[in-house]
Amino acid sequence: MKRRTLLLGALAGAAGAGLLLRPEDQGAPHTSYFRDLSGALEEAGLATPRLVVDRAGLKANLQTLRGHIGDRFDYRIVAKSLPSIGLLQEVMRESASRRLMLFHQPFINRVAESLPEADVLLGKPMPVSAAAEFYRQRSDTGFDPARQLRWLLDTPQRVVQYAELAEQLQQDMLACIELDVGLHRGGVQGDRELLEMLDLVSRSPRLQFTGFMGYEPHVVKVPGDPLKYRDQAMAAYRHYVDIAREQLGEQWPEDAVLNCGGSPTYQLYDDGDYPFNELATGSCLVKPTDFDIPTLADHGPAAYIATPVLKTSEGVQIPGIDLGPLQSLWDPNRQRTVFIYGGYWKAQPVSPAGLSPNPLFGRSTNQEMLNGSPAIDLAVDDWVFLRPTQSEFVFLQFGDIAVYDGGRIDDYWPVLGQQAG
Ligand SMILES: Cc1ncc(COP(=O)(O)O)c(C=O)c1O
Repeated sequence: MKRRTLLLGALAGAAGAGLLLRPEDQGAPHTSYFRDLSGALEEAGLATPRLVVDRAGLKANLQTLRGHIGDRFDYRIVAKSLPSIGLLQEVMRESASRRLMLFHQPFINRVAESLPEADVLLGKPMPVSAAAEFYRQRSDTGFDPARQLRWLLDTPQRVVQYAELAEQLQQDMLACIELDVGLHRGGVQGDRELLEMLDLVSRSPRLQFTGFMGYEPHVVKVPGDPLKYRDQAMAAYRHYVDIAREQLGEQWPEDAVLNCGGSPTYQLYDDGDYPFNELATGSCLVKPTDFDIPTLADHGPAAYIATPVLKTSEGVQIPGIDLGPLQSLWDPNRQRTVFIYGGYWKAQPVSPAGLSPNPLFGRSTNQEMLNGSPAIDLAVDDWVFLRPTQSEFVFLQFGDIAVYDGGRIDDYWPVLGQQAG
């Protein structure tokens, strides 16, 4: 064979292989769900980026959760993942749970004011000055911190600090001890430390031991068998409970709170005996994309960012050396451009399908470029929908949450602010 023929053959082969590698058209117009949601937003007169919670989706996730937990464990609502009093009220009502897990001092004051019936467990230890700030800002609403607020203490030093604060304020306080059951994010690391902390709590006239918190998300995150890691975490938890029961004897609280779990792990406890008595979850009720994991396969998304389209154009244009046309030629999902209101959130575009930011043009929090295929029939003022990757921070960025129910925007839930008032 001649050299030229060989070369042509090789080129044709490379072109063929290149075509095989060419991205497929991922584009599609809005599904009927997102068309209806667009209509509801329009009817409500909304025209800026919004966080939308689908109430039916939220309720379905709560039912799924109930199906797993049943009456085997109490349910504690992780409030940082559902950071709105209205949303928490909805979840408290639907789940018949008064138990909240909080992570931020201003939110504790807000909850004490707005949900005075709540039983609050801290999900992380607070600097003692933050605890002092809670008592300083507190107004009398019927929320009794001596019975309803369980501070989380992770070291003997912190027990000493809280004992001093309790003395100083002449305020009884509930002390929950953080256990390290394998995550290695702090908490009790060994028997000696636990015994010392229990001793310090017992010797304080104002502190009362109320239980343990042992969080174990690593069980499903590290490579290997989740059940093996679960069993190791549970062996550590059980060991610490046994030690504390032995040490405290009669002083062991009958109503001890023994907290465990999170969205990624809660379904690992459907069967079997475990040393805890309550499970905490929040994110699984709205299911951001970080929670698209096998252990939450039966939960569905219930929260979206909705944002209006500001501009549309054919093709892609990049300032400077314009590689946009090349991008369009290669990738059918870069043949149209839209600019949305806002952007660069911790979120992924979901509808219309096949939209993505342009890595050459770059990201923007002001008006972000998204590209898609010609199958995406967006016009100016239409809506684009994204799914948050997580909820705790993203939910706080859009003002009041728009509640979608029965085909319309049915309510608005203010989100928790940084201020107590
Ligand atoms: C102590 C603790 N418990 C439970 C959770 C679970 O929260 P979620 O269900 O939102 O993942 C978290 C999340 O960070 C946590 O820190």
